[in-house]
Amino acid sequence: MRGWMGKFRSLILFGALTLFLSGCGVENMTALKPEGYGANLLFDLMMISIAIMLFVFIIVMAIYTFVLIRYRQKKGQEDYIPKQTEGNKALEMIWTVIPIILLLVLAVPTVQATFDLADTGAKNDEDAITIEVTGNQYWWHFNYKGQEITTSQDLYIPTGERVYLDLKSSDVIHSFWVPSIAGKMDTNPGENVNSMYLEAFEEGVYWGQCAELCGPSHSLMDFKVIAVSPEEFDQWVKDMQNVDPEAEPKTASAKEGQELFNNNCMSCHAIGSGGAGIAPNLTNFGNRTMIAGILEPTKENLVNWIVNPDEIKPGNQMPANLVSEEEASKIADYLLQLKHSEVTPDSAGDNNQK
Ligand code: CUA
Repeated sequence: MRGWMGKFRSLILFGALTLFLSGCGVENMTALKPEGYGANLLFDLMMISIAIMLFVFIIVMAIYTFVLIRYRQKKGQEDYIPKQTEGNKALEMIWTVIPIILLLVLAVPTVQATFDLADTGAKNDEDAITIEVTGNQYWWHFNYKGQEITTSQDLYIPTGERVYLDLKSSDVIHSFWVPSIAGKMDTNPGENVNSMYLEAFEEGVYWGQCAELCGPSHSLMDFKVIAVSPEEFDQWVKDMQNVDPEAEPKTASAKEGQELFNNNCMSCHAIGSGGAGIAPNLTNFGNRTMIAGILEPTKENLVNWIVNPDEIKPGNQMPANLVSEEEASKIADYLLQLKHSEVTPDSAGDNNQK
């Protein structure tokens, strides 16, 4: 018994670990529960592949087991040599033709899906929404083409419509990945712009993640895709187009924060559609799902982030200790009241899993 356990110990260990780890993850960030057109295509391909693999595995294992038992060496047969066969036309036909058929079953939908996912057809249509996505160490910049809307981290899209993305990077290669809605596409530095589209079926907040190792904070390079109804999306567009970057906050602390922000942070950040794009655009910041993509949107987290960004996201470009903690607290008051739209992540309904 011990010897048997010893042989299989690592197998049992890894089996248990696989089971254990399969419990990790979030519902809104999985390719196994597709909520969008692209994700659905990829899910179907996975299922076809798994079905074919299972079919082959079961047949091979059945024959293997049968042969092992039926033709094993029996006692008193040590010198027995069974009848030798060389070449069998029928058998060779079978094991050539069946794999060809299986490959075709796999290849046809794969090629179809590849072309389907590469669609940029309606992109030149004036009504189509096209968003320029720029990956940066370690945040995402979104520019809605022709709409004068710039934002970061939270990407709002309407449901039931194809939204086209032009993806590039300002520094190193990143990868834009929203497993629940679509596939994954690299963002490259330079002129090489990649394209993909998002089409969400249901309203919801879907988690996205950079999927290309891009530096010490790669794993923290999160974003969210917020799919809202077309009516809410139109409202959001209107709200975002009518942002007054100079609007005066209501509280005294936030007013002081506004001035501090303008003096210390505006050379990189921006509010409204303008800005240099070298740091996240903070329009509508008070409605963000997360601070810096990864922290719960509380004031305490925001102050910590402003004062000591490198402790939270190592290697990011925001300078530490640019302002005192007291000043950061006022800036936080200012930023958290920047709610430029009534359409918020909560508008996305029950599918919102923070
Ligand atoms: Cu950007 Cu990993």
